[in-house]
Amino acid sequence: MHTIPAYAKLNLSLEVLGRRDDGFHALISILQTISLADELVLSPSSWLEVEIDAPELEPERNLVTRAARLAIERWAAPPVKAVLIKRIPIAAGLGGGSSDAASTLLGLVDTYALPATCEDLVAAAASLGSDVAFFLYGGTALVEGRGERVTSLPAPPVSWYVLANPGIPVSTVRVFAALTPQDWSSGEVTTAMADSLRQEKLPCVGRNDLQQPLFRLYPQVHACLLEVEEVTGAPALVSGSGATCFARVEDQAAAERAAGLLRARGYWSAAAQSVTGPAVPSPCVA
Ligand code: C5P
Repeated sequence: MHTIPAYAKLNLSLEVLGRRDDGFHALISILQTISLADELVLSPSSWLEVEIDAPELEPERNLVTRAARLAIERWAAPPVKAVLIKRIPIAAGLGGGSSDAASTLLGLVDTYALPATCEDLVAAAASLGSDVAFFLYGGTALVEGRGERVTSLPAPPVSWYVLANPGIPVSTVRVFAALTPQDWSSGEVTTAMADSLRQEKLPCVGRNDLQQPLFRLYPQVHACLLEVEEVTGAPALVSGSGATCFARVEDQAAAERAAGLLRARGYWSAAAQSVTGPAVPSPCVA
């Protein structure tokens, strides 16, 4: 039996550069893995079995099942039983499903010494979803293209974050569909943030071009962002296509205090710290 974490991510910045011919959007984003994590338990089995402790997630359509099938087909992974314990809120901009998929791929490659290179894994990841490739690297990374071009950045000093959302699942497809060319930007803010991280400085506050379409569709997320700012006294940002809002705070005590206050106001909220590297040894990380 092999228990592996699947970390959540925050988009410290996310700019949309334009719409591509394939219908996806060209992005430039800085992603950071954080300590909030799902847990994946892999054990030997005669057939592929997937169990999830969240009744709203159907095992047959889940990314863990799709990732395991892919590893069986491409690299002759033996069948396994995978039990997924969800702690990352679902459809919340925290990359939970993508991280579960990457941990499944990495867990199988590591456990059974499968002959998959980083390139093979990145190609497999891209067929599962735009955010999956990042989780093969983890830590802090600049992500470009549709999400498949990942460049690791030096880890900034450990940061504590408070996260909050109003508990509504957000459709990423709807948010991207509501995006207009006026919401796009040049990538300058994110590029500057990557440069300051390369100089080992703490990241400044980024921007998220998906915020405006998200707030038009779900005004309650804007209210949540303002409450995170009020409680922390720090600037807040939405992660990915939402609905989770986050702010960087001084230390663990400040993060836990803010999370308690936001929960008392009816939000889902958690404190989390930045983590370095992938959840499992990865051919993508030397
Ligand atoms: O790749 P993934 O399944 O995570 O993407 C979900 C949806 O988000 C896509 O179907 C697309 O509508 C939108 N998307 C996009 N551009 C990206 C990533 C996602 O338009 N770079």
